[in-house]
Amino acid sequence: MPNPRDPVAGDGPVFCCLRCGDSTPLPRCRHCHHEFESVDGIYQLTLDADSNLDRRRGATYIGYERVGAYFHGRDWAESACDAGTMALGAKMSELTAAGTLLDVGCGGGRYAVPAALHGCTVIGGDISNGMLRLLLRKAATNRVAPGRIVACRLNALSLPLPEASVDGATLNNVLHLVSEPERVISEVYRVLRPGGKLLTQVDVPTGDDRRNAGRNAEYDCREVEFHNRYWELLTERGIPLAPRNRSFNRHSTRLAAFEAVFGPGVRVDVPFSDRQVQSMTDAFLYRMGGKGFSAQQTVPDDIHEATFARVVEEFRIKYGRDFGDLTCEIVTLGLALHVFEK
Ligand SMILES: C[S@@+](CC[C@H](N)C(=O)[O-])C[C@H]1O[C@@H](n2cnc3c(N)ncnc32)[C@H](O)[C@@H]1O
Ligand SMILES: [Zn+2]
Repeated sequence: MPNPRDPVAGDGPVFCCLRCGDSTPLPRCRHCHHEFESVDGIYQLTLDADSNLDRRRGATYIGYERVGAYFHGRDWAESACDAGTMALGAKMSELTAAGTLLDVGCGGGRYAVPAALHGCTVIGGDISNGMLRLLLRKAATNRVAPGRIVACRLNALSLPLPEASVDGATLNNVLHLVSEPERVISEVYRVLRPGGKLLTQVDVPTGDDRRNAGRNAEYDCREVEFHNRYWELLTERGIPLAPRNRSFNRHSTRLAAFEAVFGPGVRVDVPFSDRQVQSMTDAFLYRMGGKGFSAQQTVPDDIHEATFARVVEEFRIKYGRDFGDLTCEIVTLGLALHVFEK
């Protein structure tokens, strides 16, 4: 007799029923017939708030409901996946034998969509419906086959998935937003099947960066100056910087935390090179103007608008009306994933 709590094979991804707790594919529990709620094609698998910065209510985290398109840049959802993420998606699919891949904190689908295009069935999990709507639009633009991506509103701190139910997982640019990153990593470990892999993108310092150190010096200075002035004005108004786990911005800290749970991992290189030029208006100002940085999530909209407009005006006076035309060059020489196996 199969145990009804065992994950079901060959039936698409399985989840924990929110009513009876048993393993079941969506949209209806095989055991108690509970219908999973879906809004705009997104399964609602948690009742937790988008962000919880209230320490009295356990682990804190910053979700991206208000960030939306500003995080990924203008026209994100309506554009094709870029070549770099397609190369990473192909490698993710190869490393997981095109199985079920859980993308934790998937955002607008930077990794989920390319992995699905290369044959994985992706569980795109995020705490923000706004980001998940973006993921679904990005998937539609890129003609991802129906059923290849299952969008789920979930909390990474308590994954609504049975033990040993996915072949692979990916976790990118999320842990610094969570007060207990170790808990997210153990949740991912729990839901991976034995032999399943956790993949995370490695920040590759490129030879080119070193050769051309200072290439974007003027751009970097102007960006930092803008950022500092914005926060200076907010601090004067008593608005604190949103807390986040700064050390988890460092790649070495993240790798050590993965190693503590999985043991040593291996680095897998993905050959790729690219060079792009971006203006301050299109990149930094677009994102900051839209409250697209995590630190801005707790700034009230009206105060943000007034403060941002004031700094823009100051910069126009200081550097000229076209101060945002300044460009920076982004060079990518090689991509890599770090791979941990359960
Ligand atoms: C910086 S974005 C990264 C998105 C994507 N992984 C990427 O690298 O492009 C972080 C994402 O994590 C999500 N997030 C933050 N805390 C979370 C939590 N506790 N559970 C699930 N998602 C969370 C946010 O809503 C946001 O979409
Ligand atoms: Zn049930």
